[in-house]
Amino acid sequence: MAVQGVNGIAVIGSGYVGTVVAACMAAVGHDVIGVEINQEKLTKLQSGSSYFYEPGLDARLRAGIESGRLSFTDDFEEAMTGSEVVFLCVDTPPGENGHPDVTSVTAAAKSIGKAMHSPHVIVTKSTVPVGSGNWLTSTIESVLPDDVDSDVFSVVSNPEFLREGSAVDDFLYPERIVLGGDDSDAVSKVAASYRPILDQSFPGGKIDAKPTLVTTDRSTAETIKYAANAFLATKISFINEIAEICEWVDADVNEVAHAMGLDSRISAKFLNAGVGWGGSCFGKDVEALAATARAHGQEPLILEASQRVNQHQRHRLVRKLQQHLRPLRGSRIALLGLAFKPNTDDTRDAPSITIAQALTERGAIVRAYDPLVKQIPELPNLQTATDPYTLVEQADAVVLLTEWDELRDLDFIDVAGRMRGNLVVDGRNAFDASRVREAGLVYEGMGRGSVPTQPRDEVW
Ligand code: UGA
Repeated sequence: MAVQGVNGIAVIGSGYVGTVVAACMAAVGHDVIGVEINQEKLTKLQSGSSYFYEPGLDARLRAGIESGRLSFTDDFEEAMTGSEVVFLCVDTPPGENGHPDVTSVTAAAKSIGKAMHSPHVIVTKSTVPVGSGNWLTSTIESVLPDDVDSDVFSVVSNPEFLREGSAVDDFLYPERIVLGGDDSDAVSKVAASYRPILDQSFPGGKIDAKPTLVTTDRSTAETIKYAANAFLATKISFINEIAEICEWVDADVNEVAHAMGLDSRISAKFLNAGVGWGGSCFGKDVEALAATARAHGQEPLILEASQRVNQHQRHRLVRKLQQHLRPLRGSRIALLGLAFKPNTDDTRDAPSITIAQALTERGAIVRAYDPLVKQIPELPNLQTATDPYTLVEQADAVVLLTEWDELRDLDFIDVAGRMRGNLVVDGRNAFDASRVREAGLVYEGMGRGSVPTQPRDEVW
């Protein structure tokens, strides 16, 4: 039985967010039509599989399609006719002057407007600059068919908090759902779409994990998204700055973070020091929020510091290699992990890219292994190995950049036997340092029993 009070959902844009929204909304009982205009991606989705890696997603897609609740199309008319709630999930890549590029949002808004013949609620899940709800409304209004009134639709902001690698669970078992809009009927309609998740009443729902529903105005909802990401990014930059201090005073940042995290006011989450954050969200969103502040004449002091510390982490890692490998030129460096975090094949703004580029420019011979990523467009000449042990053959240094489970537990005796040198740089503080040292290797973490990174100026 379809979910009460909602006559079909359309999801515009089938990327990392939209595909999860479509598959999960179908899983909780909605009739869902996903829209994807790229034909290659569309064909894959129609066959029940995603074109990127996200744990648990393909099973949900197949189940949705087999149940008849989920379909994909490139036809906006079909999607709009078959829905009354439309989730806008197209991408907003970094644009000029720190503001996100809203080209895809504009195009999608126009396609929605042209195909609108009945009442709809448009839900923005794309991360758009604060205030975009108003601009989106006028864009849709400007292309409505002549016989359709402008009050036929309302825009509600519903920021997404999905993490790549755990997006399906994050959608089905969220901690909060934020809805922002001034039309209370429209907000109630979106809340009805989420009812099975709010009540955890879908098959597999966890009755003790009901999320909090936050309803507010649109600008506040849009700001919540940016503020949440900026806070998490800043929390990581904070512990990374502490990690550098730990190197000077011979302290272990992992132990510092553990003890700090036991204080529930701080919490242990997002306190893992290392090479810093990457991915398509943190960098873009911190920059966009900073750009919003600047546009109003405000200097975004903390946001700028957070970005600088993050960039500095990548420098620090290269600097560590320069300190140990003299000369760096001609050294063989084995990178473990290319994805910006484990359990994804996404390499957008991954530390691996800047670090591999910096090392290559300095004459090092860089090879890599990642369980999922086999090539990176930005690094066309990067050679990848089929497994971590082949990778480390004759390497002078091994560098962990993504803490995949299969890389955490390497057999370091085996690794040591294959290497030419003896340096292990743990860019994620994920290795057991004593096991590395027992194998006769030199362990360098990011703020745990490491040699301080000197000098402190940036390397590029
Ligand atoms: C992030 C947010 O966590 C989501 O809530 C949000 O919905 C999403 O952005 C988005 O805006 O779409 P995501 O980028 O998928 O999700 O990944 P995170 O798990 O947040 O990790 C981001 C980066 O921080 C990764 O490079 C990760 O390695 C790094 N990180 C994370 C650390 O360096 N230390 C930590 O303690 C945690």
